[in-house]
Amino acid sequence: MLPDKLKSELKARIAHAVTNREAAVDVIKELQRHYGWLTDEAVAEAAALLGLTPLQVEELATFYEMIYRRPVGKRVIHVCDSISCWAMGGESLMAHLATAFGIEPGGTTADGLFTLLPCCCLGNCGEAPTLMVGDTLHGRVTPERAAEILAAERQALASKEG
Ligand code: FES
Repeated sequence: MLPDKLKSELKARIAHAVTNREAAVDVIKELQRHYGWLTDEAVAEAAALLGLTPLQVEELATFYEMIYRRPVGKRVIHVCDSISCWAMGGESLMAHLATAFGIEPGGTTADGLFTLLPCCCLGNCGEAPTLMVGDTLHGRVTPERAAEILAAERQALASKEG
């Protein structure tokens, strides 16, 4: 269940939006941040807050690839597989990460830290290949650079928990 403070904040944001639908993605993302992924409970809560049906929230959630309707790791790694990144080695970057993690694209590491997902263009084509970890974009990513980025993420997660 959502804490009252977050609920009031979301209600205030919805009140400032021109329409409830305009605020919908923002609200859904906040619920995802709170629960880690968009659980059925979160869908119902978003619907209640927005005055939409759960089906309408579901439709929005499945449209956006950054909204997760199943459990994900603490950090989601989106590897762009659109044309510029593909041409600059995005495919082998994805294969490298999958092998390094011992998972298939779409999977989550055994320690629950990382989920690896392909995604459409991240708008950073000039710095292909691009990946995004959480909300942070990284361009011109080589396997070595990816290892550094993920080591830093691991460290940040460990110090957050420690
Ligand atoms: S094609 Fe990868 S960021 Fe645009």
